[in-house]
Amino acid sequence: MGTVLSVEKLSTYFKTDKGIAKAVEDVSFTVNEGEMLGLIGESGCGKTTVAQSILRLIEYPGKVVKGSVHLNGKDLLKASNSELSKLRWKDISVIPQSAMNALNPIYTIGDQIIEAILLHEDVTKKEAIKRTKNLLEMVGIDGDRWKSYPHEFSGGMKQRVAIAMALACNPKVIISDESTTGLDVLTQAQVIALLKDLQRKMNLAVIIISHDLPMVTAICDRIAIMYAGKIVEWANTDQILKDARHPYAKALLNATPDLSDIGRKVQSIPGSVPNLVNPPKGCRFHSRCPYVMESCSQIVPELLEVSPGHYTACLLEEIRHG
Ligand SMILES: Nc1ncnc2c1ncn2[C@@H]1O[C@H](COP(=O)(O)OP(=O)(O)OP(=O)(O)O)[C@@H](O)[C@H]1O
Ligand code: SF4
Ligand SMILES: [Mg+2]
Repeated sequence: MGTVLSVEKLSTYFKTDKGIAKAVEDVSFTVNEGEMLGLIGESGCGKTTVAQSILRLIEYPGKVVKGSVHLNGKDLLKASNSELSKLRWKDISVIPQSAMNALNPIYTIGDQIIEAILLHEDVTKKEAIKRTKNLLEMVGIDGDRWKSYPHEFSGGMKQRVAIAMALACNPKVIISDESTTGLDVLTQAQVIALLKDLQRKMNLAVIIISHDLPMVTAICDRIAIMYAGKIVEWANTDQILKDARHPYAKALLNATPDLSDIGRKVQSIPGSVPNLVNPPKGCRFHSRCPYVMESCSQIVPELLEVSPGHYTACLLEEIRHG
C-alpha cells in the first residue's frame, strides 16, 4: 500500500489586525492508497486550514508559508494553475461542509456533474450523461433524477449528490471536511456509511475531518489529532484507542461519550484552544495539560515515533525515550 499524499512541514498563517495567526505550524502526515485517515481536534485547531492548504484554496489574508504537499510525487504547492485545475477533480477532490456550497441552485444536479466531467475529461456528452446516472445510482439516488434541481432533494440526498460530484472524475484522494454537519444523526450515519463503502469499493484515500471521535474511530484506519495548529498524535486507530500517549489525545478520548459505556460521565476538557496570534511558547497545550512540567513552556516538543507508526509530540515521551 503506497503513499498517495504526503504533507511535510506545512505552515499556513493568516494576517489579522492583531498580528499573524499561526493557524497551521509544521504539520506532517501521509495518507496511503485506499486508506481512511481521520483528522480531528477541537474547533479552531486548524483542520480546515490544513485541507484548504492541501487543495491550494488559501486566499489572502492567508498564506502557506512553508512546506510541501506531494500528491503521487507531484508538489501541489509548486504546480502551475493549469496543472492544478487538472489535478483537482481528477486526482484530488473535496466534499465541502455544506452541500449548498457544492451545488448551484439554478442548474440541475445532472448538468453540474456532466459539466465537471466534460471540463476535465475527453468524453462525449452522451458518455458523461451515462456516467452521471451511474454516479447517482452509486450514491443511492435514482439515476433518472439527473434532471432534478437541488431544491427537489432532501438535505441527506443533496449531501449524496455532493459525494457523487466529488467522485465525478475518479479522484484518488477525497477530503471530506465536516461534510455531514447539519444533517440529522441518522442521515449523518447513512452518509458516512456510504462514504466508507465507496472508499472500499474504489480503493480511495479519504481524509475525514471531524469533531466526532466515535465516528472517526469506527471507520478510520489511522487518526491524526491536531491541537492549536499542530499534530500532537498520529497513529493507527487501535493504537490511539488502546495506547494514546499525548495528554490532549487522552483528554479528547476521555471527553468523548463511549457508546459501549452508557452512563459514564462525559468530561469536558478544561480551558480553551489558545489564540494563535500569540500561541503559547513551548508546547501549545501547556496551559491545559495536567502533566505540565517547567520545560513545557520553553521547549517545543517534536513529533517522535514512540512505537512503529505511532507518533506523539510531548516532552514526557522525549524524556521516556532519552
Ligand atoms: N480567514 C481567516 N482569517 C484569520 N484567521 C483565520 C482565518 N481562517 C482561519 N483562521 C485562523 O486559523 C485557525 C484555525 O482555523 P480552522 O478553520 O482551520 O479551524 P478548524 O479546526 O477547521 O475549526 P472548526 O472545527 O471550527 O471547523 C483559527 O483559530 C483562526 O485563528
Ligand atoms: S509537552 Fe508538557 S505540556 Fe505538552 S503535552 Fe507534554 S507534558 Fe503536557
Ligand atoms: Mg473547520
